[in-house]
Amino acid sequence: MHVARTVADFRAAHAALTGTLGLVPTMGYLHEGHRSLMRRARAECDAVAVSIFVNPTQFGPNDDFDRYPRDEEHDLAICREEGVSLVLMPPVEEIYPEGATTTVSVGPLSTTLEGAARPGHFDGVTTVVSKLFAIVQPERAYFGQKDAQQLMVIRRMSRDLLLPLEVVGCPTVREPDGLALSSRNVYLSPEERAQALSLSRGLRRAEAAWADGVRDAEALRALVREEIEAQPLARIDYVSLAEQGSLAECAGPATRDALLSLAVRFGKTRLIDNVLLAV
Ligand code: PAJ
Repeated sequence: MHVARTVADFRAAHAALTGTLGLVPTMGYLHEGHRSLMRRARAECDAVAVSIFVNPTQFGPNDDFDRYPRDEEHDLAICREEGVSLVLMPPVEEIYPEGATTTVSVGPLSTTLEGAARPGHFDGVTTVVSKLFAIVQPERAYFGQKDAQQLMVIRRMSRDLLLPLEVVGCPTVREPDGLALSSRNVYLSPEERAQALSLSRGLRRAEAAWADGVRDAEALRALVREEIEAQPLARIDYVSLAEQGSLAECAGPATRDALLSLAVRFGKTRLIDNVLLAV
């Protein structure tokens, strides 16, 4: 496994590779969710590259950039275990050179839901991901359904910019008790963690109702909200049922595939989760 700490070093190592390359972009503090993306990439590509870069431009002034968890040694051990060939860990100054003014923005898809709660977040994501694509030049890039809107935004960017790669979405990995894995779960106190199970429980309730034929958007959102509002430490940012594709909020009965997604705060920790409801 080659660990490149500069773009030039990565490009030199990349030149020596043959066959197809899969990229797994991450911000580090790797867990089983990231591992699942690496395994999928390993199964589908001749070689796998992982980028580890905590991207400052996707964090807002009140976000957790300064305290985002980091553990380089552990991350590299995981990459080794998963048979990764190349790791890219560039310094911030190389990704954002002095005087850089170019950004990538996909428009409306990036200003709703997570984009509304975190203005500028997705412009930071699409800008850094397009830079990572330009450096790594993968045939395929792997993203988690855990960040469903991010996956949609990156698919849109890749399509609109005619990028020569395939964006692959991978299922959300959960703890046995249902909590979606996230690097931010380490912030939760035991009490908060117990109450955070209401997120997946609420989503499962709505999923079951959907399977029973419930289509009323407000009824489905209410099922989720009820479950979470019963937790004294939980503060709901949003519970949304939106059309898959446009992310337009559903009104009345949902007639097409829909994304049921939510963001909830526990103290300073903000968790997101979602399920896809297919007709
Ligand atoms: P990060 O939060 O580190 O996530 C990296 C990738 O892992 C994303 O595609 C995310 O959706 C996926 N992932 C996280 N938790 C997961 C889970 N429980 N199950 C499946 N996949 C999971 O997302 C980012 O970093 C950044 O925004 C990035 C795309 C790297 C751009 O900076």
